[in-house]
Amino acid sequence: MRASTLFFGALALLPILVVGQLSGHVGPLTSTSSKASKTCNVLNYGAKADKTTDIGPPLASAWAACQTGGTVVIPAGDYAMSTWVTLKNGKAVALQLDGVIYRTGSAGGNMIMIRDTQDFEMHSSTGKGAVQGNGYQIHAQGSRSGARNLRLYKVTDFSVHDLALVDAPAFHFSMDTCTNGEVYNMAIRGGDWGGLDGIDVWSTNMWIHDVMVTNKDECVTVKSPAKNILIENIYCNWSGGCALGSLGANTAISNIVYKNVYTWSSNQMMMIKSNGGSGYVEDVVFENFIGHGNAYSLDVDQYWSSMSAVDGSGVKLTNLTFKNWKGTESNGASRGPIKVVCADDAPCTDITISDFAMWTESGSKQWYSCRSAYGTGFCLKKGTGSSYAATTSTQSAAPTGYSAASMSADLKTAFGTTISIPIPTLPASYYPGAAPHSKVAGS
Ligand SMILES: *[C@@H]1O[C@H](CO)[C@@H](O)[C@H](O)[C@H]1NC(C)=O
Ligand SMILES: *[C@@H]1O[C@H](CO)[C@@H](O)[C@H](O)[C@H]1NC(C)=O
Repeated sequence: MRASTLFFGALALLPILVVGQLSGHVGPLTSTSSKASKTCNVLNYGAKADKTTDIGPPLASAWAACQTGGTVVIPAGDYAMSTWVTLKNGKAVALQLDGVIYRTGSAGGNMIMIRDTQDFEMHSSTGKGAVQGNGYQIHAQGSRSGARNLRLYKVTDFSVHDLALVDAPAFHFSMDTCTNGEVYNMAIRGGDWGGLDGIDVWSTNMWIHDVMVTNKDECVTVKSPAKNILIENIYCNWSGGCALGSLGANTAISNIVYKNVYTWSSNQMMMIKSNGGSGYVEDVVFENFIGHGNAYSLDVDQYWSSMSAVDGSGVKLTNLTFKNWKGTESNGASRGPIKVVCADDAPCTDITISDFAMWTESGSKQWYSCRSAYGTGFCLKKGTGSSYAATTSTQSAAPTGYSAASMSADLKTAFGTTISIPIPTLPASYYPGAAPHSKVAGS
């Protein structure tokens, strides 16, 4: 009785957010302030803000002391990390990163991994906390082998927010088999290269919003298995772009919404990528997309040539809606804004493309192309049926209403892979005209 009163008392302090696509509450179960009643400052466990002393062991010790009902604090200052940490079995615990952690070690794996933890918050109270992976030191040698900046595995009821993740040797942030998470107010900035993913998520009941990614691979990408994920206010500020995939055998992705996605100078605005495989992607909405300067725009490719073919007749794509897409693509004659190439042995069904107007930035032509794809709009065939060869139509006039806002601070030149990448400040907005859902820390 008493326990349940306390539990609901704590919950009442937090906004209860159940937004459309989500299946229930996301975020920590207890408040930031309740966790702050017990703090474990890494400086008291041997850490030094001298950019030399390894913060790994002190961080692990501080976690051990505070992992139940406490807050691990990394105060403002510059820290070196030469050995990685796995922080596990936490309950009602926060990790407050106000300093900057610089990678100095060279192992693979994950610089910081959180696992098997419930009711967790990782954040910067000032908006200035960051993990600087210094990936350029590895990338300049032509190598991509190295650590991820941050990985969460089997974490439930959590949030990660107001942090910058910079120049990861490999991926920046992955969430694997997590539930009830909220990720927001994040700036991710990596090298201009494939394989340096921003956010990869395969989890259940997640709200990811107000995130900026710069790199040349995944912006915010959903992998299998995943369900009930809402991804909104995403700024792919020179990136690879967002995607579902790559998808292989037994894919199980459903109830995903991407909304308010601004993509600039990326490989695509949204790609669904596979080659063979099995399983399904269903009940997904891609709404309010603005693109400028991208190679592909809407790009479904179930014969993706960068992936070796997987056994199976193809992942079945059903009930996917693309609506309100505006803007311009880089060169519509070489890469048109609509490409829906489905598996011949598993044709797509119930695809809807509506309120879609994009035009080319160079030349005066663009194409739409569909293959084995059924639904409504543009080159999609009506109804259901068997495979058909690609049908391509070419336009030589701009569609009405294609013009769309730009972000005033679009990155003009990539950061490359050979020199240090500066830590960004958190942007004030992640989509034209949209204020972040939560106030940015320190603003
Ligand atoms: C299609 O997906 C949308 C969005 O998830 C959902 O609301 C709708 O019920 C689905 N339609 C069918 C026929 O399943
Ligand atoms: C986009 O990235 C560039 C370089 O990181 C940055 O200067 C700019 O502020 C970013 N845009 C926004 C709106 O934050």
